Amino acid sequence: MLRPAISPSLMCADIFRLGEIIDGFEKNSIELLHIDVMDGEFVPNFCLGTDYCRRLKAATDIPLDIHLMVSEPENKLEAFPFGEGDMVSVHYESVGSKNLAPSFEKIRKRGAKPFIAINPDTPTEAVSDWLEMTDGVLLMTVYPGFAGQSMVEGSLERITALRRLMDENGYSEKSIEVDGNVNYEKAPLMRRAGADIFVVGTSSILGPGDLTDNIRKMRSLLDEVTG
Ligand code: DX5
Ligand code: ZN
Repeated sequence: MLRPAISPSLMCADIFRLGEIIDGFEKNSIELLHIDVMDGEFVPNFCLGTDYCRRLKAATDIPLDIHLMVSEPENKLEAFPFGEGDMVSVHYESVGSKNLAPSFEKIRKRGAKPFIAINPDTPTEAVSDWLEMTDGVLLMTVYPGFAGQSMVEGSLERITALRRLMDENGYSEKSIEVDGNVNYEKAPLMRRAGADIFVVGTSSILGPGDLTDNIRKMRSLLDEVTG
């Protein structure tokens, strides 16, 4: 079982306390910073952008986990400042992208890790052709675009099925990242089902309560399952 990693969703972070929040992430060895990028076309919302990423990279060494909810990602992803150690996810459902290979190649060429993202209505088998080219799968447990939603029914079974598909095809070392309504009750269940990267937002560590207490609580819940 891959070691669990926590990736806080910065769209849920209080922009007026961002410096203090990032300090809290560093003090608690947070592994990744989840950056939701939306173009108003692939999802009916806009969110964080290139300048936000650039300023983050100047402010902290925590790797970026850039989630591109955009159409034609192959034409947009190079505008973002990612490199060695960062992760960039591109949606299987990206409109206008006949082939995702150019996106994954561009991400890999900069030393970053390409991930393929799938929405709740996309069968998990859809990623089969892309597992060789990517470092893992971002499995959406809500419909992308907005924070504060509830997990889509059947998401835990999808994580189990995806982990089985990856194990059976020799990809056990690749990651499953889960994104959406990852709360203190669901995170251990998602972990047991086979997820190892957890996008956490308003449902847990960036919700009410002290940040360090919230992170410690999430970590102990995840470690209990890992054993
Ligand atoms: C959804 C976003 C997530 C997430 C936010 O598109 O990608 O970052 O939903 O966290 P929650 O679901 O906890 O508010
Ligand atoms: Zn996301």
